[in-house]
Amino acid sequence: MGNRIKDKVAIVTGGAGGIGSATGTVFCEEGGKVVLVDRDGVALDDAAARIRDTVPGATVLTVIADVANEISAADIAAKTLDGFGRIDVLVNNAGIRSYSPLAEASAQSWQEILGVNLLSYAFMSKAVIPAMRASRQGSIINISSTYAVTGRPSMGQYDATKAAILALTRTLAFEETPNGIRANAVCPGFTLTPFHVAKAQANGQSAEDLRTADIDGCLMRRWADPREVAYPILWLASDEASYITASTLMVDGGRPVV
Ligand SMILES: NC(=O)c1ccc[n+]([C@@H]2O[C@H](COP(=O)([O-])OP(=O)(O)OC[C@H]3O[C@@H](n4cnc5c(N)ncnc54)[C@H](O)[C@@H]3O)[C@@H](O)[C@H]2O)c1
Repeated sequence: MGNRIKDKVAIVTGGAGGIGSATGTVFCEEGGKVVLVDRDGVALDDAAARIRDTVPGATVLTVIADVANEISAADIAAKTLDGFGRIDVLVNNAGIRSYSPLAEASAQSWQEILGVNLLSYAFMSKAVIPAMRASRQGSIINISSTYAVTGRPSMGQYDATKAAILALTRTLAFEETPNGIRANAVCPGFTLTPFHVAKAQANGQSAEDLRTADIDGCLMRRWADPREVAYPILWLASDEASYITASTLMVDGGRPVV
């Protein structure tokens, strides 16, 4: 076990999911105290139990909440401060997908995806900024996607939210750098999370099929393990990245060059 973020207090939204739980695990392995937030209480308990099992002495608090709700965001920040007295890191990671072509996308699905993938990032940032400003330091890491900067059919709603996250991140950096707060975005590529495994299984493929698949969309020709995305997030959370702000970090196995 290391100490790259020793005693830093980190909130991770979507903490029950693939990248979120891997981030929580890596943070605990490196001495952080983690608040995992998710609206899926069962998956959240499972994720926290797995972390406690694999990382001896891990400090994990769980909060069941819908982060698309501004009041929930304020409540999560308050619970974190009650539990740990400080907030050093926010990883905005909760996300949902929508597969409607834009010509068919409903107002309701727009509202849902904007609420989770964009507004929650804004609400959570707003909720933690006062505590970060008070300690004159903090790191906000917004999980976007490679599709923020490239195109494809049928996921326009998702891709639009991911592009908006990059603009949100830049503005946060402009506004909060004078207060000691860094803001950066991470754009994962193909990451083998339970979401993708379940989707593949519904189409008759196994997790092993995916793990061994030859992916022609990136130089690495394979999926990332969620920990391979969690480590760059850890780096941005740590003081090792003290001069990094307003950046967009592609964690994509070399997608733009293929
Ligand atoms: N897996 C990939 O290939 C990939 C690629 C690029 C970007 N991303 C992004 O990374 C992030 C995590 O992806 P993942 O694959 O781990 O997803 P996932 O589906 O495994 O996890 C997402 C988590 O967010 C939670 N969530 C959804 N809406 C919520 C809400 N309103 N309030 C609280 N929690 C909520 C879900 O319950 C789930 O546990 C997402 O933002 C996703 O868009 C993933």
